[in-house]
Amino acid sequence: MSRKKIVAGNWKMHKTLEESMALTTEIRGMVRDELRGDTQVILIPPFISLAGMARLLEGSAIAIGAQNCHWEDQGAYTGEISAGMIKSTGATYVLIGHSERRMYFGETNEQLAAKTKTVIRHGLKPIFCVGESQQEREDKTYFKVIEKQITEGLFHLDRKEFSSVVIAYEPVWAIGTGLTASPEDAQEIHHLIRKLVANYYNEEIADALSILYGGSVKPENAAQLFAMADIDGGLIGGASLKARDFIEICKAAR
Ligand code: PGA
Repeated sequence: MSRKKIVAGNWKMHKTLEESMALTTEIRGMVRDELRGDTQVILIPPFISLAGMARLLEGSAIAIGAQNCHWEDQGAYTGEISAGMIKSTGATYVLIGHSERRMYFGETNEQLAAKTKTVIRHGLKPIFCVGESQQEREDKTYFKVIEKQITEGLFHLDRKEFSSVVIAYEPVWAIGTGLTASPEDAQEIHHLIRKLVANYYNEEIADALSILYGGSVKPENAAQLFAMADIDGGLIGGASLKARDFIEICKAAR
């Protein structure tokens, strides 16, 4: 299996510019000194830190990503940030459709489909997030929910466009709660996602797709999750704000 292992740290609305630079410096040193193998490490800070961090990380293998992006290239959208602006900072990834964006900002699959298209057109790579709520897990409708998120959010892309997509499965009930999906439960969904992609595109594209797990990943549970056949790394929230925890999770992805 040749697909890329990825560990991405989603800093959410944490860290001032100064704090971001300090944490980045710390992580950069640990990645250089301790990380072996070719796991792709991605840091996803608030927008204000992107450019500074990109400069700080020049010559390092760590990539930078943004947490959101507008679907239009420019215009009267006060408070929004475009893909071109993100690209100009040196970032290469963009999170699309994080459950907090869906939940608190009402982002719809239709908007996320447009964002994904725009991000790819600008040569950036989307990390497209999907996941079910606690209720949907209890009702056992989670397969359907995830299928709909993927179908409506991604399947407008052609094969070439889709090849730059990373998918993150993040069960909403596991985000920031300390509850983690068991490796087997997570594997079941990752496998389903890969099957959907194989059926719609083809086996080769599905095989090359990195699917990350997110939701209370910690140094203590990362290795078991990442050992599953279809789990290719993680999208880390809380634990990515501590350099030591984050690097231990990165090491577990080998
Ligand atoms: P968590 O967040 O690791 O704090 O649960 C994950 C995420 O929301 O990306």
